[in-house]
Amino acid sequence: MQIGSIKFKRPMLQAALSGYTDRAMRMLARRFGCELTFSGVMLDKSACHKSVLRMKNYQILDDEHPIGGQLLGTDPKIMAQAAQNFVNQGYDVIDLNFACPAPKVLRRGRGGAMLDNPRLIIEIFRGVRDAVKIPLMMKLRIGIDESEAAREDFWRICEEAITGGIDALIVHGRTTSQYFRGKADWSVLAELKKKYPQATIIGSGDLFEAADIIEKKKTACVDGVAIARGAIGKPWLFRQITDLLDGKEEIFKPDTTEQGRIILDHLNMLAELYEPKKRVWYFRKFLAHYSKAHTGGRKLKMELVTAHDEDQLRTAIKKWYDVS
Ligand SMILES: Cc1cc2nc3c(=O)[nH]c(=O)nc-3n(C[C@H](O)[C@H](O)[C@H](O)COP(=O)(O)O)c2cc1C
Repeated sequence: MQIGSIKFKRPMLQAALSGYTDRAMRMLARRFGCELTFSGVMLDKSACHKSVLRMKNYQILDDEHPIGGQLLGTDPKIMAQAAQNFVNQGYDVIDLNFACPAPKVLRRGRGGAMLDNPRLIIEIFRGVRDAVKIPLMMKLRIGIDESEAAREDFWRICEEAITGGIDALIVHGRTTSQYFRGKADWSVLAELKKKYPQATIIGSGDLFEAADIIEKKKTACVDGVAIARGAIGKPWLFRQITDLLDGKEEIFKPDTTEQGRIILDHLNMLAELYEPKKRVWYFRKFLAHYSKAHTGGRKLKMELVTAHDEDQLRTAIKKWYDVS
């Protein structure tokens, strides 16, 4: 997989996930072989404020390269300025978000709400393209809704972005109005890659299990896959994909104790980012996912997600995961 001047050994990346892809999640993805991670999307106006860029989750340390930053916004000039600020911040790749379906984003006409306005999207793309030299990509859904007009808008955006020199497109195979319902339509990804074989096309949508991810990638002939929800509470998914690509007969499956160590490492990394109270509360959404790989079921999950403080949480993790 190649995005502009950056080449990757493995055809996968850690997708941007607002509220999840902080430094801890990104570093875990990296540990299991993911070579490109993204921090969560940032509003263009926020990226023009030094105080926001100074926040820990947007500070880039030396061990995090290459890393992508993602921008959301509707004003070509502010988006271009924000992109320049991201370059100064140390980001290696910039991604423009025209895919977010969150109601508060759509209400303001941002993200996935912009897919019916190809002219504006292309104006933003050109403005940012002129403003920065680093690899530039766009995140799209396959249309604002299921209508014919929406599909035409989608193809127009792809055509103009690719001919205008976009370095990669990440396409989530759902429409904005679909939100996360139904199945991602990977046939659109196949069609896109077939139409523009020279472009770097990265597929997104319903990527949870290594074998299925490789099958989807192979069938659609895309250059790479963006792992999103699949890596929450399962950072070793990247290693499993790598093992399968390398033709290993047995893919990496951490045993219970190893899972426990990964969970504790994750918690340790959060200590650098959040205050004690916040990190126990914040970690719950990850624990709910981590617990799925354990046979302890509901009892385990409840004990982990109801721990009141860090000591209690550590004790529960050590007990259930047999970590000394
Ligand atoms: C909680 C959550 C936060 C997300 N945040 C972002 C984001 O900041 N930027 C983005 O481009 N996509 C974001 N996405 C979309 C994912 O990157 C991905 O495209 C989508 O989840 C489909 O892939 P999946 O079905 O494999 O999870 C988010 C998805 C979820 C569930």
